[in-house]
Amino acid sequence: MKLLEITGGETLSGTIRISGAKNSAVALIPAAILADSESTICNIPEITDIDALCDILDDLGVSVKRSTESVIVDPTNLKNKEIPENLSRKLRASYYFMGALLGKYKKVEMCFPGGCSIGARPIDLHLKGFEALGAKVKVKGNKYTVEAKKLKGAPIYLDIASVGATINIMLAAVKAEGKTTIDNAAKEPEIVNVATFLNSMGAKITGAGTSTIKIVGVEHLKGCFHEVIPDRIEAGTYLIIGALCGKKLKIDNIIPEHLESLTSKLQEIGASLEIGPDYITISKKAGYKGVRVQTATYPGFPTDLQQPFTTLLTQCKGNSKLEETIYENRFMHVPYLVDMGADIVIEGDTLKIKGPTKLQAREVVATDLRAGAALVAAALTAKGTTKITNVEHILRGYERIVEKLKAVGAKIKSLEI
Ligand code: UD1
Repeated sequence: MKLLEITGGETLSGTIRISGAKNSAVALIPAAILADSESTICNIPEITDIDALCDILDDLGVSVKRSTESVIVDPTNLKNKEIPENLSRKLRASYYFMGALLGKYKKVEMCFPGGCSIGARPIDLHLKGFEALGAKVKVKGNKYTVEAKKLKGAPIYLDIASVGATINIMLAAVKAEGKTTIDNAAKEPEIVNVATFLNSMGAKITGAGTSTIKIVGVEHLKGCFHEVIPDRIEAGTYLIIGALCGKKLKIDNIIPEHLESLTSKLQEIGASLEIGPDYITISKKAGYKGVRVQTATYPGFPTDLQQPFTTLLTQCKGNSKLEETIYENRFMHVPYLVDMGADIVIEGDTLKIKGPTKLQAREVVATDLRAGAALVAAALTAKGTTKITNVEHILRGYERIVEKLKAVGAKIKSLEI
């Protein structure tokens, strides 16, 4: 087990280079098996979720060559067999193998995916989409068998603009016969990144990034070269950290447009930002004021930044309100922040935060990935040395977080316990 020890109060300056987006990469790797030949995907983040996906590829007989920041996936010897539960449980995104294997072989068998415990997180919309394309879904205990004689394009309306369902249906539909329309599709940049990859492979997808995606099925897809977009959530987390303790902290290799909902809130509280073409420089300012935030699907304020942003709001003057509209159980970071000295009350799906409050070092637990990020931000701000356990959650999504923070002046150590 790993533990992080962080001594707060340091000023962070220098440059943090942002890695490829986790939520793109975890969909692009399963998508690569739809091709008949090898694909090279670069700007892959070095995070444990990618290791877990590569283990699944390996189990399916797919050749995977990894080097720094890139992966070459050759599906020539792919065997369509059941994905073992111990592998699919390691991460949420293992569910993308459902769409990809169904699209390629018209049959997939796997168990319910894993991932952070932040709410019920059903996959009913994914399954409804597969059924609309002509598949039959059988559920036995925890195991799903999804099978079709043939997949036929269809109009699909998503009750919720789900990122996972939108991508999974695209994966299943690219080789279906005829035309599929996904209405109320999610619009996240990661979806555009996946659609661009599939189109480079020969798919015919239009409208990705809008709420209507149209897909005309093709018979064959061929491998290609593709690049993962920068991780807007990693970038957002470091911007929040910069607002808390940065001095000209440069967050580099990003697409600032992907972060507008966050940067506008940072400006509203009073942080100092310089927005460049592919970077943002941020400095801590005195006298931040409280704001209201509501999470929403893209381009709204991302639920994945709600938890780290809570930490920042504890340092803002007055009353802040943070409403979580996407997940029902994404406040696991709050009791730890309260223990560190924050004044936060949970009322249903809303946090009421009074600030500013001084934070004190404590022993805390990273209950999930972004709760862990919230606690790292708090520890960097707090007086004393905070110990964070369950660090494995953080390493699933933040590439070399210890090295990146150390390089800009943080007092942070990773220990094996
Ligand atoms: C993805 C991201 C995650 C992010 C989330 C919302 C990945 C691997 N993960 O998760 O980091 O927090 O988008 O931006 O990309 N829902 C259903 N039925 C379904 C599918 C979803 O009810 O079949 C609900 C979920 O429970 C949730 C909401 O829809 O309340 C949004 O979920 P969704 O967009 O699907 O999130 P994920 O794809 O799981």
